[in-house]
Amino acid sequence: MSKEYILKTENLGIDFGGLTAVNNLNLKIEKNQIYGLIGPNGAGKTTVFNLLTKVYEPTRGKVIIDGQSTEKMDLVAVNKLGIARTFQNIRLFKELSVLDNVKVGLHNQKEYSLVSAIFRLPKFGSAEKEIESEAMELLDVLGLKEFADFKAKNLPYGKQRKLEIARALATHPKILLLDEPAAGMNPAETAELLDTVKFIRDHFQIAILLIEHDMKFVMGLCEKITVLNFGEVLAYGDPDDIKNNPEVIAAYLGSDE
Ligand SMILES: Nc1ncnc2c1ncn2[C@@H]1O[C@H](COP(=O)(O)OP(=O)(O)OP(=O)(O)O)[C@@H](O)[C@H]1O
Ligand SMILES: [Mg+2]
Repeated sequence: MSKEYILKTENLGIDFGGLTAVNNLNLKIEKNQIYGLIGPNGAGKTTVFNLLTKVYEPTRGKVIIDGQSTEKMDLVAVNKLGIARTFQNIRLFKELSVLDNVKVGLHNQKEYSLVSAIFRLPKFGSAEKEIESEAMELLDVLGLKEFADFKAKNLPYGKQRKLEIARALATHPKILLLDEPAAGMNPAETAELLDTVKFIRDHFQIAILLIEHDMKFVMGLCEKITVLNFGEVLAYGDPDDIKNNPEVIAAYLGSDE
């Protein structure tokens, strides 16, 4: 029996003018897998996320999510298909409450007509209640329940990163993309995040693709890893293969990490 991949790319690539930012990328991520995408600064990692989520249209190749090619889809359609992400630089609605930040993601999921929303008809009322309780549940999973009424901008940095994850989860992804989730966290916060990511995978039964420079975090969490360098795959394997790969070590030593 062939494996079930939640995400595949086939010879994926993009050029910016004369610069080939990503080339010949063939990722295969299984359902429920925690997968790492690593590499030196400027290797093309965030660009891969932008290709997977249709922020950018690929110059070459294909993305297949849950068996469907995203070729003709836009950003909203691929999110509906089951992919959600966080950003390298936190993007939250800073003036909104923590709870409302998550509710925004959930509103996009629920089906009710504009008319029932405007006139606050019963269908809207019950949808609103469901949204509220699901949002609180997500905050609970991320350890943010007690901060529900805080303005997002008043959360400490590590908790803002977790709120972004809660908001991404609100769109019910089958695969969640995390762009440097541990950036700016202290060692205790990073260790806690590692447990949170594992919990999310187990609790929601989803795949997670993460970009991260913290090698302890990546090696402790990821089942498979792809290393990018100058937009090309330098290595692929499990953490032990990657740790001991001389080319990978050289690429990192050659960068300013
Ligand atoms: N919209 C764009 N226009 C032109 N060049 C771009 C664009 N987006 C990314 N690039 C270039 O593509 C290359 C890869 O950038 P990318 O942000 O994907 O790297 P990264 O691996 O995420 O790096 P970092 O670890 O520093 O976040 C860089 O040379 C970058 O300048
Ligand atoms: Mg990046």
